[in-house]
Amino acid sequence: MYFVANWKMFGNLKSINTLNKVIKFSKSKEINKGRLIYCPPYTLLNSFYKKFKNCLIDIGAQNCHENDDYGAHTGYVNSKMLKSIGANYVIIGHSENRKKGENDNLINLKVKSAIKAKLKVILCIGETLSEKRKRKTKSILSKQIKIGLKNIKKNSNIFIAYEPVWSIGTGNIPNQYELEKILEFIKKSFRGKAPKILYGGSVNPRNIMELKRVNYLDGFLIGGASQSAKKFIDIVKKTYS
Ligand code: 13P
Repeated sequence: MYFVANWKMFGNLKSINTLNKVIKFSKSKEINKGRLIYCPPYTLLNSFYKKFKNCLIDIGAQNCHENDDYGAHTGYVNSKMLKSIGANYVIIGHSENRKKGENDNLINLKVKSAIKAKLKVILCIGETLSEKRKRKTKSILSKQIKIGLKNIKKNSNIFIAYEPVWSIGTGNIPNQYELEKILEFIKKSFRGKAPKILYGGSVNPRNIMELKRVNYLDGFLIGGASQSAKKFIDIVKKTYS
């Protein structure tokens, strides 16, 4: 199972000390077969990389520019730059960025540039509450997958993170039956081998007992709870308990 910590726009140099507990845990037997990946803000990527040098915790970025070469794009960072400082993953298409105008075509360009730079892509998809109410979930997810992964031949470096927008930061999660149906739908929308699938949206040490029972899941994308080393470790421990 993969446990991806998305720190969003949180954290400073002091937060690095909180990682000691996680590093210790990652070297213990309790980690089981869990794979830990931290996606801090760009400003902390290199510090996290150095901190995790002697352990198996990986790092990823929360977004990238769509151009795979350097260029005059003030304020942006591309996949090549991320790879060069030690990132192995990048989150693309998070709903918080879709809300700010990133569309599926732009997301597709980002995915392509990330693959070219040999980064693993965590492609976020998910419906809003109003889309859910209008029973549009499946058509939205299909479109996000189809355009987001257009002309991507191999799925081996792709992870799909199903993050219902109405679940992010709200404490609400889909029920097991509902979630399983959607994950099955996502898996089946791929011909051949489907990518690994993560669930994201209000994952915490309390609801993990329910979420871990859901079929078709390869891991979790964790926002708020991942900023606390204790909660993050608890989520991993409980997944295997
Ligand atoms: P929360 O876990 O805070 O709901 O955030 C989920 C998320 O957006 C992860 O990418």
